[in-house]
Amino acid sequence: MPKVTFLPEGKTVEFESGKLPYDEHGKPESVLDVAINFGVHIEHACGGSCACTTCHVIVKTGDANLNPNPADDDELDRLDQAPGLTLHSRLACQAVVTGDVTVEIPGWNRNYVSEGGGSMNLGNAIPPPKK
Ligand code: FES
Repeated sequence: MPKVTFLPEGKTVEFESGKLPYDEHGKPESVLDVAINFGVHIEHACGGSCACTTCHVIVKTGDANLNPNPADDDELDRLDQAPGLTLHSRLACQAVVTGDVTVEIPGWNRNYVSEGGGSMNLGNAIPPPKK
């Protein structure tokens, strides 16, 4: 059973692959989907469709347990616009958990919670015009 640890809260959750109820947020069993299932707040302004950067998380351990690995081009293009980008950055809604991982929810994302949990900044939520 894959385990996901969310930092800095230090909350670890475990789920059985293929058994997680799906709530239409990101790819099924993505980091975002797991977080929502267990009451961990990750901002997701676009609803998990790879069209914003608010669900940006930093993978501390277990990069290889996220599918796809590495991220695909759509995710990488989107991540390029994320503030505080690191070599271990992923979009929580696109990275599907296949084994144990530890992810850090960056401070700017957590700050939304203290402002009431609503989406306060939708700056990157609007997809670019189609080419
Ligand atoms: S929620 Fe918008 S890209 Fe993940």
